[in-house]
Amino acid sequence: MNAHQFQAYLKEKKLLVEEHMQILMNQMEIPPSSLRSAMEYSLFAGGKRIRPILLLATVEDTGMEIAGALDAACALEFLHTYSLIHDDLPAMDDDEYRRGKLTNHMVFGEALAILAGDALLTEAFGITAKADLTPETKVALLAELAIRSGSRGMVAGQVLDLEAEEHSISLEELELVHRHKTGDLITFAVWSGAVIAGSNKEELLHYTQYAESLGLAFQIQDDILDVIGDEAKLGKKTGGDEKLQKSTYVSLLGLNGAHQKLHETLEQARYALRQLGKEDGLLWQFIDYMEKRDS
Ligand code: IPE
Ligand code: IPE
Ligand code: MG
Ligand code: MG
Ligand code: MG
Repeated sequence: MNAHQFQAYLKEKKLLVEEHMQILMNQMEIPPSSLRSAMEYSLFAGGKRIRPILLLATVEDTGMEIAGALDAACALEFLHTYSLIHDDLPAMDDDEYRRGKLTNHMVFGEALAILAGDALLTEAFGITAKADLTPETKVALLAELAIRSGSRGMVAGQVLDLEAEEHSISLEELELVHRHKTGDLITFAVWSGAVIAGSNKEELLHYTQYAESLGLAFQIQDDILDVIGDEAKLGKKTGGDEKLQKSTYVSLLGLNGAHQKLHETLEQARYALRQLGKEDGLLWQFIDYMEKRDS
């Protein structure tokens, strides 16, 4: 697969994920229409859908059909969307734009934004539980999702991130923040794709190493784009990290240093894929995509 074909793949899978997320929402009876509106506002505001596509790509790279994985992939996007709604709240990053639109709390108010986030998080577990997968696979996915998204994963990363505001931290500490706040959901995406595809223990280890490097690289690029990115392309305001005096790869290493670290981290991802003998598939293309992405 070449870069051009990969772009087409991303586009096609983005549509598939969005269509299926709408089906999932339509199946839910949600008594307050305001809550449905707030959930759908952020779910369908745009977004690259990288996490669900990574999950699907991991399954497809093994030659398996993705049907059973689609619910799990969409559930992860529900959970990610919750994390963005809460991340933008005044008590957190206090952002006004996300995915090219006003943030959830700017439109629906803080209380409903918090609750829409809570609902998306909870539904993510419900959707996974009802997915067309074996009970063993689903229990494994649910347990791992709890770890990667909660107090040992993304939420822990968000707390570490907030605590690192207004004072500088070491590179090791920053890496820990990034690995949790962003890396864990990306790792979950690949890990669950590999579990659904029936990977053995050793393969899972390599998939996890690949995903951890990819996830760290994703947040390094996010830090870089917060400084040099195009607001229209990103759909969010840049310069926020500096304003909040966040420790980022750019603040600690400078722009060149951050680019260098991004490159090194992606080399580690390539190394892990080589161990799996997967040098020409979708996951390989994701590495180049991470290095070049501008949104
Ligand atoms: C933004 O995630 C938050 C981070 C974890 C860096 P994405 O860059 O995947 O945002 P969307 O989903 O495409 O809007
Ligand atoms: C957000 O990191 C990570 C999560 C939402 C878990 P950032 O705060 O850097 O993300 P952006 O830049 O607002 O998208
Ligand atoms: Mg944040
Ligand atoms: Mg933020
Ligand atoms: Mg950021």
